[in-house]
Amino acid sequence: MAPPVKKDDANGTSQRSRSRSRSSQWSRGKSPPPEKQAEKDTETKDDVPKTRGTPRAKAPDDLPVAAYKEKIIDLLLEHPTIVVVGETGSGKTTQIPQYLLDSEKFHCLFENKRGLRVCITQPRRVAAVAMARRVSDERGTRLGDVVGYCIRFEDKSSASTRLRYMTDGCLLRECLGDPDLANYDVVILDEAHERSLHTDVLFALMKRAVSNRAGQLRMLVTSATLDTGAFSEYFACPVLEVPGRSFSVALHYHPVSKTQRVEAAVNVALNLHVREGPGHILVFLTGMEECEQAVGLANSKLQSMVESGKQVADCLIVPLYGMMQSDDQRNVFEEVPEGCRKLVFSTNIAETSLTVAGVGYVVDCGYCKQKNFNPKTGMESLQVTEVSQVQAKQRAGRAGRTQHGKCFRLYSEETFNRSLPKVTVPEILRSNLASVTLQMKAMGIEDVVRFDFMEPPDRVRLVKSLRLLFLIGALDEDGVLTDLGRRMSQLPLEPQYGRVLLAAAESGCVSEALTLVSMLSSEGVWYRPSKHNADQWEEARATQERFLHHLGDHLTLVRVFSMWEDEGCTPEWCKANFLHFRALRQARDIRGQLCDQLEKVSEASVRDAVRAVRNRYRDHRDRDRGRGGPKNGNSVEQALLESLCSGFFMQTARMCGAGGGWLIVGENVLVKCEAGSAMDGSCAEWVLYTDLVGSTVANCMMRTVSAVAHKWLQPLLPKLVEVDLKRLVGIEKKTSRQEKADAPKDASQIAKEREVKVGSAR
Ligand code: CDP
Ligand code: MG
Repeated sequence: MAPPVKKDDANGTSQRSRSRSRSSQWSRGKSPPPEKQAEKDTETKDDVPKTRGTPRAKAPDDLPVAAYKEKIIDLLLEHPTIVVVGETGSGKTTQIPQYLLDSEKFHCLFENKRGLRVCITQPRRVAAVAMARRVSDERGTRLGDVVGYCIRFEDKSSASTRLRYMTDGCLLRECLGDPDLANYDVVILDEAHERSLHTDVLFALMKRAVSNRAGQLRMLVTSATLDTGAFSEYFACPVLEVPGRSFSVALHYHPVSKTQRVEAAVNVALNLHVREGPGHILVFLTGMEECEQAVGLANSKLQSMVESGKQVADCLIVPLYGMMQSDDQRNVFEEVPEGCRKLVFSTNIAETSLTVAGVGYVVDCGYCKQKNFNPKTGMESLQVTEVSQVQAKQRAGRAGRTQHGKCFRLYSEETFNRSLPKVTVPEILRSNLASVTLQMKAMGIEDVVRFDFMEPPDRVRLVKSLRLLFLIGALDEDGVLTDLGRRMSQLPLEPQYGRVLLAAAESGCVSEALTLVSMLSSEGVWYRPSKHNADQWEEARATQERFLHHLGDHLTLVRVFSMWEDEGCTPEWCKANFLHFRALRQARDIRGQLCDQLEKVSEASVRDAVRAVRNRYRDHRDRDRGRGGPKNGNSVEQALLESLCSGFFMQTARMCGAGGGWLIVGENVLVKCEAGSAMDGSCAEWVLYTDLVGSTVANCMMRTVSAVAHKWLQPLLPKLVEVDLKRLVGIEKKTSRQEKADAPKDASQIAKEREVKVGSAR
């Protein structure tokens, strides 16, 4: 199951470690952080070069795209859509939009008075922010002025913004209210090779918008890999290839077992640091948790080396992953003093989205986290998966941007050749489609099954998403969007969580529900020290246990948040309680924004209650004003759990024999709670879970679990068997042969079939 707010990269909801603050091994220079400098900058209200401030960053002089500047402009003047292919680091993301902004010729094409507006999408939020920051630095303008960004829950752009970096999810949401994207003259869909779910849907929506606004909307698609046949065929447009310039990368194979990858990666990296000449080290791991763990481990190993009298050069050790706060990413891109090496532990985000300049060495663990849809449970989970050969090559390529490089693969050459899939399966073929299906329905696309996707998702999964939307009341029996569904589509949440908020608004526990959804949307709050530090680990466990609510993890999260607020929202309190201050602060910000959005979409009868929560939230001195309270004799806690049922009754399970685990409703799957859950060891007869983790049906575990009452589920569960799929999808009865072909497939099956298809197309 996806988190309530779609994370913009596949890094899961694991915990952050505090080791970052300790990670800097060198004394920083005196220059003020860019943030402070920005405050001093004079505001520039225009994007015309002569009014720019002093740039703080300069694009390298020899970027491959620079030679193609005029060509790109001319092509785009001539064609409504073009594709540009160039390898990572060639300047596509930072330069191409600036070429358009600064071209007189191009401006003349558009007769509007408001000035040219360009939007460029990124599949990952970290990239959207980093790129906007970099480009506004290059232009010497203040971030949020000429150049801005927009990611979920954070909009740093203004009326004067001409170039807007945004996540593809954000642009998709914008399409809801403005399907023809009248706000923009040019839309760049960047990183198309990643084939993220939202970008894939945008392909189709953009194709439509470009034809609706003939001549007035231009689209540019960029990709880092050459496999662009599918794009040019789908869009029927020219493809411009920008040849790259890169150095050779020597490959070294150093197989280790999957479970030892983090420690092995750290050892290899430190070895490189001690032995090798200049060049930063980039290590690819699977997720936030691993990156933070590696940072901690590398720090302590380096420390021991220093203590044992070894001569070790300075090294800045930093993590890089998608859920990092905007401000935390700076360390990764900041220049380090002469003689100091950067050691970056990154997720697949540094494969193609972000360029860490000056990398000479890459360590590739061979795995990444991928969203996968489990056809057996009908649910999506994040799984550690082998990378594809294309990904492995991209990773190695990062070492050869500016010098001859070395890449250490923590697997054998044979594994590379025989076991790794050739290409990555696009997200649309392996993820939960409920949210995009709902958005498409809200845009008036009635027949999502026959929609013009570039690579249509498995029909069974589309039907599953329609079924889910029907179950939560977003669609009626005929697959038509309901009023409730329209309101869910306007909340920036997975539809199931939207349903919970709307239910909570009706039952007097909206404040608690907002807290819960915000807590689930922020980074993990629990700080878990490394197991290497047994004392601290035990202390953290014991301290955190005190927060556990006997009714489950959801109420536990609500309790943590309200205690933090009661204690004045301080970082000290978090530290003493082994909680991540930043995660709580983020939850508070999200809560405020969600509250505003919920107020907008609520029915008049409950709008007052939502408004009261917002006021209370803004005015701590008057905390309890406006609390309506639950109506039907429930306690607030019960009301919240009952509201959760309206969005998640299909994710409940019933106790099966004492202590034998729980059986998922409607499925023959036995599951347990993850260790550390408040419900671990509980004998509750019925439980509800919002996350399921694990790679196979056999090792599935419930994460974030609560006890629920059967009487709340009773009116809802019959819907599971009543749903008439044929009517919902509105299609003819399928032949049995078709049905067989439509049987749910797992990820490896999809990968195999695609390979055959791609292979035979060549
Ligand atoms: O999009 P693409 O991968 O083609 O390249 P880009 O992100 O536009 O980056 C072009 C170049 O700008 C990189 O090769 C880096 O040298 C530089 N750059 C940087 O130094 N720091 C950043 N934060 C972004 C880009
Ligand atoms: Mg790029």
